Amino acid sequence: MGKKLYIKTYGCQMNVYDSDRMADVLTPLGYAPSPSPDGADLVILNTCHIREKAAEKVYSELGRLRALQEQRRAEGGRMIVAVAGCVAQAQGEEILDRAAGVDIVLGPQTYHRLPEMIAEVEGGGARVLDTEFPAEDKFDFLPEETAAPGVSAFLTIQEGCDRFCTFCVVPYTRGAEQSRPVDAVVREAERLVAGGAREITLLGQNVNAYHGAGPDGREWRLGRLVRRLAEIDRLDRIRYTTSHPRDMDDDLIAAHGEVSALMPFLHLPVQSGSDRILAAMNRRHRADDYRRIVDGLRTANPDLALSSDFIVGFPGERDADFAATLALVTEVGFTQAFSFKYSPRPGTPAADIGDQVPEDVKDERLAGLQQLLRAQQDAFNQRQLGRDLPVLFQSRGRHAGQVVGRSPYLQPVHVLAPETLIGGIRPVRIVEIMPNSLKGEVVDAPAREELAVA
Ligand code: 5AD
Ligand code: SF4
Repeated sequence: MGKKLYIKTYGCQMNVYDSDRMADVLTPLGYAPSPSPDGADLVILNTCHIREKAAEKVYSELGRLRALQEQRRAEGGRMIVAVAGCVAQAQGEEILDRAAGVDIVLGPQTYHRLPEMIAEVEGGGARVLDTEFPAEDKFDFLPEETAAPGVSAFLTIQEGCDRFCTFCVVPYTRGAEQSRPVDAVVREAERLVAGGAREITLLGQNVNAYHGAGPDGREWRLGRLVRRLAEIDRLDRIRYTTSHPRDMDDDLIAAHGEVSALMPFLHLPVQSGSDRILAAMNRRHRADDYRRIVDGLRTANPDLALSSDFIVGFPGERDADFAATLALVTEVGFTQAFSFKYSPRPGTPAADIGDQVPEDVKDERLAGLQQLLRAQQDAFNQRQLGRDLPVLFQSRGRHAGQVVGRSPYLQPVHVLAPETLIGGIRPVRIVEIMPNSLKGEVVDAPAREELAVA
């Protein structure tokens, strides 16, 4: 009998990847993905701990699930509830205390053991808590058989972080930095492409710290790995996220000019433009180092578009520090960005700094920064009007007859065209700019990934 599995994913792209791998692990047990928790035999919340708001969402969702669990029990069935991901890793016991309906709590490094955990719960055993950082590597235990990948697929190549930025929980929830061997990454990439993926986004909490064991017995950095992956036939687009400026080495920068499959869009978080705040954040670079890296990237590929993350209201941030952030943004120019109010995270050094910034000041700075970033994004989108962009079509649109794809800069592009385009790259003339997407028309010419500079 088939069983229903509902997975709700919060947070980053690695959680999306992990959720898919959990589904793969559970397929041999007869679990098939279901679009809603109604009638599910197993619900997994794959959680995010990066900011307080993200973590709190989990408890409200668990509250809602409780009612469904009761209903299921009244009908003589059972809904197992598991909490996975970074909240699970950080709060293990607390989740079991706070949420009576939770049967399993598992961290990001133990999900290959899900079948045993479920067997234990089904066998009437106690609730399961497994937030170890096991000696074995979960990737060695994950099935090679996976659900068909989409046109654009994720591939985790690196996990964990050793940088210990003072605001960040990642080094604690995801553990020490670890890179997968080159051969394992190449094999997985080849499988994804054989399954229909045309684009692969390489994932890691600090992906450009990648230093996996190469087939030649040496450590390979990310630039070399990207060059190797670019040799895979029909892998048209390669992206990677998220990077740290300090780990942007010369070879990776050069790859942006030399590897045509490497897309001209890079998410490179800077967090702040103030050297004082960068130091307090333990970022280990100055604002000028970031400017230099961006110059190097743009020399390698003048078409490169940049995205970033920012935190406003880090403890001790004065008006002058915030002004330095605005100055950096104005100078560098971002085509897209994420900005957040500082959120103190238990167990991180910055949470214990006395000089916390009042909430209303954070609100004001966030609004100012977002206004500037929005204007830059709008200006960048406007510059695409009339251009022909190669678009990788990924899915049907919301409206009848519409297909949606992505530009090289990750902008969603809507086109009225047949569904047969899905899975391929076609040149699209941009005819209208919407707030968060572009509208275009397919141009009847062969697709070219090499773009003229706008
Ligand atoms: N408060 C606010 N934002 C944070 N980020 C990470 N930790 C915190 C925090 N404690 C942001 C950073 C990071 C992104 C993923 O989330 O900008 O790059
Ligand atoms: Fe967190 Fe990124 Fe800093 Fe690592 S480099 S501690 S993941 S913000």
